[in-house]
Amino acid sequence: MANKEKRIAVIGTGYVGLVSGACFAYLGHKVIGLDIDREKIERLKRGEVPIYEPGLDRILSKALKDGNIEFTTDYGYAVKNADFIFIAVGTPSREDGSADLSFVESAYRSIAEHIGDNDFKVIVNKSTVPVGTGRWAKEFIAGLLRERGVKEPEKRFEVVSNPEFLREGKAVEDFMKPDRVVVGADNREVAGFVASLYEKLQPPILITDLPTAEMIKYASNAFLATKISFINEIANVCERLGADVTVVARGMGLDHRISPHFLRAGCGFGGSCFPKDVKALIHTARSVGEEPRLLSSVIEVNERQKLRPVEKLLKHIPELRGRKVAVWGLAFKPETDDMREAPSIPIIRELLKRGAEVVAYDPVATGNAKRVFERELSTGKLRFASDKYEALKGVDALILVTEWEEFRDVDFDKLKGKVVIDGRNLWEPSIMREFCTYESIGRP
Ligand SMILES: NC(=O)c1ccc[n+]([C@@H]2O[C@H](COP(=O)([O-])OP(=O)(O)OC[C@H]3O[C@@H](n4cnc5c(N)ncnc54)[C@H](O)[C@@H]3O)[C@@H](O)[C@H]2O)c1
Repeated sequence: MANKEKRIAVIGTGYVGLVSGACFAYLGHKVIGLDIDREKIERLKRGEVPIYEPGLDRILSKALKDGNIEFTTDYGYAVKNADFIFIAVGTPSREDGSADLSFVESAYRSIAEHIGDNDFKVIVNKSTVPVGTGRWAKEFIAGLLRERGVKEPEKRFEVVSNPEFLREGKAVEDFMKPDRVVVGADNREVAGFVASLYEKLQPPILITDLPTAEMIKYASNAFLATKISFINEIANVCERLGADVTVVARGMGLDHRISPHFLRAGCGFGGSCFPKDVKALIHTARSVGEEPRLLSSVIEVNERQKLRPVEKLLKHIPELRGRKVAVWGLAFKPETDDMREAPSIPIIRELLKRGAEVVAYDPVATGNAKRVFERELSTGKLRFASDKYEALKGVDALILVTEWEEFRDVDFDKLKGKVVIDGRNLWEPSIMREFCTYESIGRP
């Protein structure tokens, strides 16, 4: 491991795997991106970026031009030609809230098939996995190697936890300028090798043991989700008392112990991480006999908050049957096409359930949204507009769900006479009220 540039395989080329792989390659490492999705790999080989992530195309095309990244579906090739094998496959929620580790387990199995007698591979969990997974993985992989007759299986690999903290929409920036890099391993020397992959970024590095690193990821996401549910609860109380939550949040955020971040009231959090990670942590806590009351409330508050815009709309239009409602913003947040757990999903379903017709618009997530709403689309009650103003034609109301920049400056005349529910406090109430019946979250 003497060379500064290392050989890395990244298993799973989704939001995390593709960004991490492209950024490692951009930093000069030799990267192999592997996925079981053949179509995705074919597109990547052609230089196409299969997801919407600002800046990723530029990083990826440079990495491809420099010959630092290649893509494959062949585990044998990837394992043979890499010293570090990063796992970045999905860990979605199961029905009971626990993390579904089947993709991770399948990746371990495929890797283990190709580790030989003279190898030493560093297997790095970048996927968010429950506390205890790393230690379990060591036993599991060693068992698989033993079955194949590999000599001294424990000496052929080490498992390291290196959780990822990037945010979709700012993923490249977050990877390149991390607040911290956390590395957990039983073997400190190997943890140091993994940390050295980030050397050029000069990030604060925290080296610890496996379960602690795994817990740092869950505790961080649970804390951020708690901040959001906290401010949403305060917003709902503000509404009743005539206080303005945006100013309350500003006042709170000036206290450096609190910080202004993640104190924006709205219609709840979504995405592929916060909901599933909080639920998984609740499940883990219960499995060891701890009842996490605060975390359960974080989820409960969030579930209710997602439907708050519909409740507000019903105050103005109590009977939605036969009425037409526009929804602006479908992705779970701006600057991404990710629809996982997006608040737009329960909002649109509730509107349709109450008999409304819905016209939805998002600058980039329509393709993914069409897959999510396949059933609803077939009823003819939901359709997608190709621009924001087309979505407004003939509607009685507008709900803003995702605060894309393009919604900030609107032709307010086009909102005249409509009921507008601003689920993200994007617009100024005093201006909006000149044009429409306007409601936002937690503002008088
Ligand atoms: N998305 C985020 O913002 C984010 C941030 C931090 C951490 N994470 C964590 O990172 C992990 C990945 O998340 P994501 O959003 O990138 O997921 P994703 O669904 O976008 O990508 C996962 C990829 O893994 C591939 N895959 C599945 N099984 C495979 C296998 N056995 N071998 C090879 N490839 C396989 C899939 O085809 C897919 O392309 C999750 O654990 C998530 O919690 C995500």
